[in-house]
Amino acid sequence: MKILGIETSCDETAAAIVEDGKRIISNVVASQIDIHARYGGVVPEIASRQHLLTIIPVIKRAVADVAWRDISGIAVTFGPGLAGSLLVGVNVAKAVALAAGLPITGVNHLEAHVYANWLDCSSPSGQDGRARFPCLCLIVSGGHSDLLLMKGHGEFEKLGRTRDDAAGEAFDKAARILGLGYPGGPAIERAAGSGTPCLPLPRAWLKESHDFSFSGLKTAMWHLVQRGGVSVPDVAASFQLAIVDVLVSKTIEAAKQLEVEQILLSGGVAANKTLTQHFLANSPVPVLVPPSHLCTDNAAMVAACGYYHFKAGKISTYDLDVVPSLSLG
Ligand code: KG4
Ligand code: ZN
Repeated sequence: MKILGIETSCDETAAAIVEDGKRIISNVVASQIDIHARYGGVVPEIASRQHLLTIIPVIKRAVADVAWRDISGIAVTFGPGLAGSLLVGVNVAKAVALAAGLPITGVNHLEAHVYANWLDCSSPSGQDGRARFPCLCLIVSGGHSDLLLMKGHGEFEKLGRTRDDAAGEAFDKAARILGLGYPGGPAIERAAGSGTPCLPLPRAWLKESHDFSFSGLKTAMWHLVQRGGVSVPDVAASFQLAIVDVLVSKTIEAAKQLEVEQILLSGGVAANKTLTQHFLANSPVPVLVPPSHLCTDNAAMVAACGYYHFKAGKISTYDLDVVPSLSLG
């Protein structure tokens, strides 16, 4: 079963064809990063206009080598995300579905991130890439830091979330303080490469819960920089390690408590090599993580998730609307 995935929730216009929820036939991502970088972050109005300009060429490229009659359905992200951006994807998906006579399913962007782990790709822990239930899902992106128990396809139970900044948001804000540009995660990771994590920065353990908190860390880092006498690479390395420490320790603790089979990482921050190295070195259970380009926003993960929706009979109607504040679990 070949599914066309469409993703426009933030600043990537993406379309992909995925077979049977795993085999990537095409995966086209038009990033707007260069356009937003000069403003230091995503400008919603510009994002939705850019999606409008690029969505049709992106879909055309994604389906270039596939006959429409071989496509079984369309999966589109309907939330969470920027309302104007989501609207472009959802409406184009409906129009294409109507024209091609295909069923459509609305996909939660966070659930889609998790399904990047089902795509055919090598996994650092030597697994075949196939997840086993129950598993623990850590979704760390620009807008979310969620810890969920996944008991089966589409069955999520939220255990924890961030109480303030998401991990990716913390990276982005820290990079702005250090003048490293946008997006902050890759910039901090690069700068950290030539530094040592020698500076004292706080970790919010929130021992009694599975929640996270990163805003105190960001403030402490700001004070450290204001006082001066520290190098940017050392601050970046110390900041990165503080986030990694908390994400790894709390997730592994939950994995032990809940006796899960595996840990599944996803979302843009899962592209961070220090994070994955620490998980792989410390986890008592196998850790799956998609390759970097499937951690950040793409439509292959939406198509993979959509495949399981269609298999479960979860089909949307044409009154499918965007839900910018949609949550998972
Ligand atoms: O999943 P994603 O592409 O979009 C959202 O759904 O938000 O995640 C984007 C976030 C940004 O905050 C970005 O700074 C962060 O992921 N990110 C990283 C890395 N690559 C992207 N954070 C840390 N290390 C990275 N290598
Ligand atoms: Zn995302």
